[in-house]
Amino acid sequence: MDRPYIFCHMMTSVDGKIMGSYMETPEGNAAGDVFYNIAFGSNPHYKHQGWLSGRVTTDDNFTLYRKPVLDENVPLVRSGDFVALPNAPMYYVSVDPSGKLGWESNTLTYGDTTAHVLEVLTGKASNAYKAFLRKLGISYIIAGEDSLDYALAMEKLKTLFGIETLMLGGGGVLNWSFIQAGMCDELSVVIAAAADGSSETPALFETRGGMATNKAVGFTLKSAEVKDGGSVWLRYRINK
Ligand SMILES: NC(=O)c1ccc[n+]([C@@H]2O[C@H](COP(=O)([O-])OP(=O)(O)OC[C@H]3O[C@@H](n4cnc5c(N)ncnc54)[C@H](OP(=O)(O)O)[C@@H]3O)[C@@H](O)[C@H]2O)c1
Repeated sequence: MDRPYIFCHMMTSVDGKIMGSYMETPEGNAAGDVFYNIAFGSNPHYKHQGWLSGRVTTDDNFTLYRKPVLDENVPLVRSGDFVALPNAPMYYVSVDPSGKLGWESNTLTYGDTTAHVLEVLTGKASNAYKAFLRKLGISYIIAGEDSLDYALAMEKLKTLFGIETLMLGGGGVLNWSFIQAGMCDELSVVIAAAADGSSETPALFETRGGMATNKAVGFTLKSAEVKDGGSVWLRYRINK
C-alpha cells in the first residue's frame, strides 16, 4: 500500500490522559514544550509534512464548535477531491466524516507552525459543505461512503499532496481507530510528570464512539529518554 509513514505523537499525564488541568502545572508546561519541539521545533525529529486530528480535537483547538456557513442552494460542485494547494510545506489534516467543522480560513497557526487545512470527508458530507470548503480554498479528499476508508485516505494524502510522513495527532478516538486499522507505524509519547485524577478526560487511546474494538495491541520499545521537568519520551514500534 502506498501510504505515508505514520507516527502517533502525543503528550500524556502519568495516568495516560491527553487533556486536563495537569497540563497547567510546571511539569505539564515543561512536557508541553518537549512535545512541541520534538515534532515542530527548529530541529524536528520526524520532519513530517502533515498532522492528522480528529474532528473533536479540531473543534476544541481551532474551529471552536462554530457552525459552517452553508448555502443549501449552491450548484453541484465537481465530484471527487479538491486539491487547493499541492505540496504545501505543512498540512493540518482533519478527519471530519460528515462535514461539521466551521472553518473561517484555509490556514491555521499552531505555535510558530503555519499549515494549510485539508479535510478528510466521506460520502456523508453534503454538497453545500464541499462548496463551503471550496470557497475558503480548503483542500478536501473523499475516502469512503458511510465510514472512513483508511487506506484510500492515506494513499490520497501521499499521492495528491506529497505527504511522505504523517503525524497521527489525536485525540484518543482517532489514535486508536488508526492503530486498530493497521495505519500506525510508531508511537511517540511524552509523559509529563503530573496528573490530576479526573475521570472526565480522554485517554491516549479510546474505543468511545464505536469506531474500533478493544483488541489488545503490543508495542516494542525503541527508545526511552529523560527530558525537561521530569518528563520522559518513549518511542515504540507497533507490533503487527
Ligand atoms: N495531549 C495531546 O497530545 C492531545 C493531542 C490531540 C488532542 N488532544 C485532546 O483530545 C481531545 C479529543 O479527543 P477525542 O478522543 O475525544 O476525539 P478525536 O479523536 O479528536 O475526534 C473524534 C471524532 O473524529 C472523527 N473520527 C475520528 N476517528 C475516526 C474514524 N476512524 N472514522 C471516522 N471518523 C473518525 C469522528 O468525528 P464525528 O463525531 O464528526 O463523526 C469522531 O467522533 C481534545 O480535548 C483534544 O484537545 C490532546
